[in-house]
Amino acid sequence: MRVTEHPILGKMDAVREVEFEFDGKPMKGYEGEPIATALMAAGVKVFRYTIKGGNPRGVFCAIGRCTDCVMTVDGMPNVRTCVTPLRDGMRVQTQKGLGAWEETK
Ligand code: FES
Repeated sequence: MRVTEHPILGKMDAVREVEFEFDGKPMKGYEGEPIATALMAAGVKVFRYTIKGGNPRGVFCAIGRCTDCVMTVDGMPNVRTCVTPLRDGMRVQTQKGLGAWEETK
C-alpha cells in the first residue's frame, strides 16, 4: 500500500530502505519518507489514543495540522509523524494520551 508512481509527482526514484522499530517490532521503510507513510504501508492505522476516552486516532490531515498522527519517536512524545522524515534506527511508539518523555541516562 504505497504510491510508487504518482500522476503529478511522477515515478518514485530509487530510495534507500531503512529499518526502524514500531512498538518493539522491527519494520522497514524508505529513508526520508514520512514515518506515517511507512507505518501505513505496513498496515498500521492507529497511531495514538486520546486522553479522554482512549479513542484510537490515525492520519487525518497528513499535512501537520491536526495532531491526530502524533506518536512517541526516540523517546520524545507528540511528534507529528505525517511530516517527520523516517531515519534508520528510529524507535516509534503508539502514544497514549499526552505521552511521556523517556528518561535520559
Ligand atoms: S495527520 Fe494531521 S498532523 Fe499528521
